[in-house]
Amino acid sequence: MTPLEYEYLRKLLKERSGLDLSADKQYLVESRLIPLARKAGLMGIGELVQKIKSGSDALIVDAIEAMTTNETFFFRDKIPFDHLRQTVVPELLQARSSRRSLRIWCAASSTGQEPYSIAMCLKEFAPQLSGWRVEIIATDLSLGVLEKARAGIFSQFEVQRGLPIQLLVKHFRQVGELWQLNADIRAMVQHRQLNLLQDFSHLGTFDVIFCRNVLIYFDQETKIGVFNRLAKSLEADGVLALGAAESVVGMTDAFKPYPERRGLYRPNPARGTRSGPALKMVAAAG
Ligand SMILES: C[S@@+](CC[C@H](N)C(=O)[O-])C[C@H]1O[C@@H](n2cnc3c(N)ncnc32)[C@H](O)[C@@H]1O
Repeated sequence: MTPLEYEYLRKLLKERSGLDLSADKQYLVESRLIPLARKAGLMGIGELVQKIKSGSDALIVDAIEAMTTNETFFFRDKIPFDHLRQTVVPELLQARSSRRSLRIWCAASSTGQEPYSIAMCLKEFAPQLSGWRVEIIATDLSLGVLEKARAGIFSQFEVQRGLPIQLLVKHFRQVGELWQLNADIRAMVQHRQLNLLQDFSHLGTFDVIFCRNVLIYFDQETKIGVFNRLAKSLEADGVLALGAAESVVGMTDAFKPYPERRGLYRPNPARGTRSGPALKMVAAAG
């Protein structure tokens, strides 16, 4: 691959997916895109770039899919899910008791282990949530991972990563060498394609947003833009969960850390998010 071809692909990937590749990641692009070029019957990266330049949008989509990292596992990092069970859901059960609805968004949901972990946590609250409208919306840029997530079928290796044995027995059934998540948990999650670089205000506002292990691939400017839009999509008393290597510190003041809950953030009332000022006025009036 020539330096010019690398530069072209680097720019394209950043514009379309946010992926921010440093100048020394040529080997990574080659190792992921050469197989794609061969599969498309092309000689190599040079021809792939030519084909993309001549307007093959399908190849761009395939190149983005090939370059994204889909690494995920059940109850990844454990702590956010403990917080969800121990603090976040109990608090929301109180705060939303008159509205009786809960909206959770899992952005960059990959092959489904994360939104299904959230669903299994919520299932534990089934008696308290009876009669409530509970939505878990899982979104990802990649159609390939969404298709796998919808099927809810996981390998032995995948269910051995992070999933407690009691939950495997309770919520999965064995199909040959694979494990399928039971229909009740699958039905709790709606999967949709969504690019975090694009407007997502149409999704409405959420009580909880999990946006984990995706912003690490973006540059600072892109991260800030996503954080500021996430803040508008979160209720004033809502909670944002980030990945273990991610933080809002030095990026935005739209969120502040949730006290004593590592990895969790709340909208910053001083910033006045979508519903923030209104809530403050209600509190002042009361
Ligand atoms: C490393 S996985 C993280 C999955 C899960 N959130 C977790 O923490 O286990 C990153 C996911 O982000 C998705 N992704 C990458 N760029 C994206 C974008 N611009 N918009 C939405 N999703 C994106 C990828 O397709 C991939 O499934």
